Amino acid sequence: MRKEFFLKSKNFANVILKTAEEKDCENLRQWKNAHRSLFFFQDIISSDQQQKWFQEYLERQNDYMFMVVYKFIPIGCMGFRLINGEADIYNVILGRPAMGGKGLMSHALRLMCSYIHSEWTPQIALKVLKTNPAVKWYKMNHFEESASQPGFLQLRLNIKNFKFCEWEKTNGNLSNTPKIGRPS
Ligand SMILES: CC(C)(COP(=O)(O)OP(=O)(O)OC[C@H]1O[C@@H](n2cnc3c(N)ncnc32)[C@H](O)[C@@H]1OP(=O)(O)O)[C@@H](O)C(=O)NCCC(=O)NCCS
Repeated sequence: MRKEFFLKSKNFANVILKTAEEKDCENLRQWKNAHRSLFFFQDIISSDQQQKWFQEYLERQNDYMFMVVYKFIPIGCMGFRLINGEADIYNVILGRPAMGGKGLMSHALRLMCSYIHSEWTPQIALKVLKTNPAVKWYKMNHFEESASQPGFLQLRLNIKNFKFCEWEKTNGNLSNTPKIGRPS
């Protein structure tokens, strides 16, 4: 079982990344199902399957799923796992469409990549279906095409162009941290 933590940045204090908890499973499941046509795995995920995934996830040391929290409300998710010393970003989803197009998910991605770069590895990549409009969004966020396979692209963060942000990690559960977890 891992410790819970959250990440925030002075650059955009309203966007926090907190590690997913059991109570986030239903949001994760619904968001993934709603966007499944954009991902490699396109089956509908049941509550039982989601729970199984979460229990296995808790045991994986090199795998982090974050909830993107804006003003104390979870609006999306994004994760990364370390494979052969490289970070593979996955499950990037804006769950609340009304919060889209405001740069919030870009802030969250910048925060996660800054954390990965300083704590884990400068090699940060992801795979995305060629048909996914998110390719343009990743490119806007300084990912570049590094390989093209039938049906999907591999994108890699260009760390020369990427603007890292300062970040701060706090161990513990966001909702149990009175000053940070709740609006005053
Ligand atoms: C990809 C995804 C997470 C992007 O979410 P989003 O809310 O649109 O992202 P952002 O707000 O950060 O950026 C999108 C737009 O906001 C604009 N924007 C507005 N204010 C901004 C700000 N202050 N800072 C940065 N961008 C800003 C950007 O210019 C961009 O515009 P454009 O794409 O129309 O040119 C979302 O579309 C999604 O969940 N897609 C479905 C799931 C998916 O495909 N995930 C990827 C799987 S590999």
